[in-house]
Amino acid sequence: MIAIYPGSFDPITLGHLDIIERGSKLFEQVIVAVLRNPDKSPLFTVQERVEQIRKCTIDLPNVEVDSFAGLTVEYARLRNAKVLLRGLRVLSDFEKELQMAHTNETLWDEIETVFLATSNEYSFLSSSVVKEVARFGGSVDHLVPHAVALDIYRCYAETHPGSTPPTATNPATPTTRLRVDQEV
Ligand code: PNS
Repeated sequence: MIAIYPGSFDPITLGHLDIIERGSKLFEQVIVAVLRNPDKSPLFTVQERVEQIRKCTIDLPNVEVDSFAGLTVEYARLRNAKVLLRGLRVLSDFEKELQMAHTNETLWDEIETVFLATSNEYSFLSSSVVKEVARFGGSVDHLVPHAVALDIYRCYAETHPGSTPPTATNPATPTTRLRVDQEV
């Protein structure tokens, strides 16, 4: 059985990666599908996000990474997949996710949405949280795969040339965080 894991992944977080790893044990194939959404102004291009996800799923042979535009169910049909995989973090996710699952079912009655409860340690985590922390100079080393953290620091160093992004060798300290906060 093939499952599609659709999303924006701007950027992929450790929470997403947890869902991909666990999904890869449940399904013959998991296709991580990055939505090409013209309405959003993302931090990373679709191609960059696809590359980031490929890098951190390289050890999972039944995981493929792709991008798509338009309706998720149409992409699923095209890929011969009848399962959509989604992570559920907290109660507030539930309403939106249920609405999406029901809408998708009205579009293609053969599609099933399978929810995996996000591991407890990632229940607070989202791509938006990651971007907010990084934007204000905080460390995201514990929130995203290492290579992605480096991309994020590089990205914010380009847009905020004066800032010193935290790294493993230059961790964010309360002092640096305070300094950055005061500037805002
Ligand atoms: O990571 P996200 O942003 O929560 O993912 C949302 C996504 C991409 C799964 C959802 O917006 C989506 O499926 N968009 C494609 C358009 C579509 O099929 N809409 C109908 C379902 S509401």
